[in-house]
Amino acid sequence: MKDLNLKNLPGHIAIIMDGNGRWAEKHMLGRITGHKKGARSVRVTVKACREIGIRYLTLYAFSVENWFRPSEEVGALMELLETYLRLELPGLIKNDIRLTSIGDIEALSGPIREILGDAMEKTAGNKGMVLNLALSYGGRDEIVHAVKKILKDCQDGILRPHDVSKDVFSRYLYTCGLPDPDLLIRTSGEYRLSNFLLWQSAYTEFYFTDVLWPDFRRKHLVDAIVDFQKRERRFGLTSGQLQRD
Ligand code: IPE
Ligand code: IPE
Ligand code: MG
Repeated sequence: MKDLNLKNLPGHIAIIMDGNGRWAEKHMLGRITGHKKGARSVRVTVKACREIGIRYLTLYAFSVENWFRPSEEVGALMELLETYLRLELPGLIKNDIRLTSIGDIEALSGPIREILGDAMEKTAGNKGMVLNLALSYGGRDEIVHAVKKILKDCQDGILRPHDVSKDVFSRYLYTCGLPDPDLLIRTSGEYRLSNFLLWQSAYTEFYFTDVLWPDFRRKHLVDAIVDFQKRERRFGLTSGQLQRD
């Protein structure tokens, strides 16, 4: 792991895993084959993050907008998710990885919710790394959902409007308990957030690569972390102020 400074790792990495369809097209294969190849990159990335010592990894696996893709593609993605969860559970347990999820989980099918719930329960005590899957996730939906819950708690007398702060608001998001991402990687040469972690990425460092997700390997992850380590995160302060601390 040349060049990697293990003392300055991003605590939380979030990845927009994009480009499965274009990878398939490039290889004259169907989009679903692209998604299958993408699942291999997920495996490789989870393993690499765990070995490097990343504490939290959030993967954007399926957005609320993705439901509007052709139904065969949505069906295949759901099948892949089910297969992934079944196949990976023993490895997650063995490697001390805790599985969590964010998004509108109720929108997933009963069998998937069951497998997901079971995997989350069986890994709940794991401490090595958190693997957080964004499923049926949308950042704006998450914010609206939080606002509704806050209004309800105010109505029920659990919360006073006066007490709503940035911290309190964060606790009403799907990501309650997770730190904000330090580094966000997007593959496939697209430069947009696509409704991912809108609130949480206020001070996240962004890294974009042209690599298509099915081609993403450990070396690409290391490149992104090395790039992150060269940056100065100022959080609105001056460079001089940071150096004095
Ligand atoms: C990312 O790859 C996977 C999901 C969004 C589920 P895409 O399927 O978006 O691939 P492109 O963008 O069409 O290449
Ligand atoms: C974002 O990719 C969602 C996931 C990676 C799961 P999309 O391919 O759906 O994003 P757009 O449509 O190109 O913005
Ligand atoms: Mg895409």
